[in-house]
Amino acid sequence: MNEGITVKDLSVGYEEPILSGLSFHMAEEEFWVVVGPNGAGKTTLIKTILGIIPPLSGEIFIHGKRCTNWCDERKFLSYVPQMENYASNFPSNVFEVVLSGLFPRLKRFQKITDKEVKTVERWLKFLDLWEVREKKFNDLSGGQQRKVLIARALVGSPHYIFLDEPTTGVDLKNSRKIIKLLNSLHKEKKFGICMITHELSSVWHYIDKVILLGYEGKFFIGKKEEILNEELLSQIYQVEVKIAQTEGGPIFLVWDKHN
Ligand SMILES: Nc1ncnc2c1ncn2[C@@H]1O[C@H](COP(=O)(O)OP(=O)(O)O)[C@@H](O)[C@H]1O
Ligand SMILES: [Mg+2]
Repeated sequence: MNEGITVKDLSVGYEEPILSGLSFHMAEEEFWVVVGPNGAGKTTLIKTILGIIPPLSGEIFIHGKRCTNWCDERKFLSYVPQMENYASNFPSNVFEVVLSGLFPRLKRFQKITDKEVKTVERWLKFLDLWEVREKKFNDLSGGQQRKVLIARALVGSPHYIFLDEPTTGVDLKNSRKIIKLLNSLHKEKKFGICMITHELSSVWHYIDKVILLGYEGKFFIGKKEEILNEELLSQIYQVEVKIAQTEGGPIFLVWDKHN
């Protein structure tokens, strides 16, 4: 039994803190979402946990090892960046993009082995990308590009996958497919998932815990029922949020009274 990811009194930002005093424990195999308005610090927070941005203060432990700066345990965390931030203007094909997920793990000049190629092939098949493996990444639809980036995050055998808005800009049907895929990676393959999303209705069933970030460094962390309620969401988003209970689960609405 590993010990998950523990964050203690973390402060994140760039010179000036955006969020301070964050403490939480992400157990292995949980499904977390990070939600909140634009500019609240969602991306900054997950990049700090991933070690891409240094924390301003506080501590991060991965499987019990102190990882505030660098540590070997970081290899258990993988990242699916927001699409706009992924430099895709180079002519790689799908296979090569997925294979590039192994590079951070290879030692300098280390050759890629058959075993690693097999891993790439296995994920391409699992994610239904086998048929397009030789196509140029740039020629794929937005939905398929997200799946390629998910495959790229998976080939390094992580324990946790952090995703930054993986369905933003994807149409409804393909967005649904991506969310179902994340659920099957969580339920069947036992990955810990932490995703930034605005699609609360679609992910509701799958969520264990929520980090809700607001303006001016406000945050709330807890179980979905405690955090994703009308009162707190309306307060954080500074707009009236209503939750309609339906057979398929709650639907989150921005409510305008027309009078
Ligand atoms: N590289 C950076 N340098 C300085 N400030 C940044 C940088 N990236 C983002 N910010 C600022 O940090 C704040 C939080 O940004 P971000 O984490 O991207 O928010 P979110 O993902 O919730 O939209 C914003 O005010 C943004 O302008
Ligand atoms: Mg962001």
